[in-house]
Amino acid sequence: MEVIATIAELQQALTPLRQSGAKIALVPTMGALHNGHLSLVAEAQKQAEIVVCSIFVNPTQFTDPKDLEKYPRPLAHDIKMLTDAGCNFVFMPSVKEMYPNYPTPENWKIDLGPAEFVLEGEFRKGHYQGVTQIVYKLFNAVKPQIALFGQKDFQQVLMIKNMVLALGLQVDIITCPIIRETDGLAMSSRNIHLSEADRQHSLVLSKALFFIEEHYNTKSLVELTEEAKAIINGVEGIQLDYLTIANGDTLLPLEVKTTTNTVALVAAKVGDTRLIDNVMIN
Ligand code: PAF
Repeated sequence: MEVIATIAELQQALTPLRQSGAKIALVPTMGALHNGHLSLVAEAQKQAEIVVCSIFVNPTQFTDPKDLEKYPRPLAHDIKMLTDAGCNFVFMPSVKEMYPNYPTPENWKIDLGPAEFVLEGEFRKGHYQGVTQIVYKLFNAVKPQIALFGQKDFQQVLMIKNMVLALGLQVDIITCPIIRETDGLAMSSRNIHLSEADRQHSLVLSKALFFIEEHYNTKSLVELTEEAKAIINGVEGIQLDYLTIANGDTLLPLEVKTTTNTVALVAAKVGDTRLIDNVMIN
């Protein structure tokens, strides 16, 4: 596996491969890799000849500077995981490489539709402008035919698809299933911040979502939402930001039950760590 730090070197390496007809897949990450990321690499390997994984902790998508500072960066461990997984290239640029004028903000404002401003968009203002800004830059640097993202960041995938549509980009966005620990916790780079007690408490998030999934056909939307919230609110040290049963495109809460594109989403602070999770109901 080749580790590359500049866009120029990356293009030098990828251009001949692209010209010889190889399909290139991009797996964008912020590092602190876990099996969820490796499942994206494995899917990318099924669908393309060349897999590029990017590791870049993108400052423009953090709304809280402390969160940016404490974001885990176990680079040697990440490189080993990607080497063992048979990834072809890892792209690890500096902040200056991706944002030459940093910290002066660049002009980036894209219409991602009204779903930008709900759920995560409400709690992390401007977050999806930062995410789409860096993903656009990574697409330009790698020029992949496909890019793979995890369903755990459900709203993020929707925003990236909206960007691709809005800008007419030639990249297929592939969504891969959430990978969970055996006890149900969705894998996340942030899980390492959980204390032993928080780790135990965090299980109520997936429990609440599985409750909705299990009882969707028999209980009303109000019952489902209230009873799922009660599962979470009964646990100490958890501060629920939202729990909703929503349409998968608008992310607005359902007013009546539907039989397709229904998703239950949750976000909560567990101790000092903010976690999100979701389950596709139908
Ligand atoms: O999901 C992430 O890790 C990040 O939001 C992404 C897509 C790599 C953009 O920085």
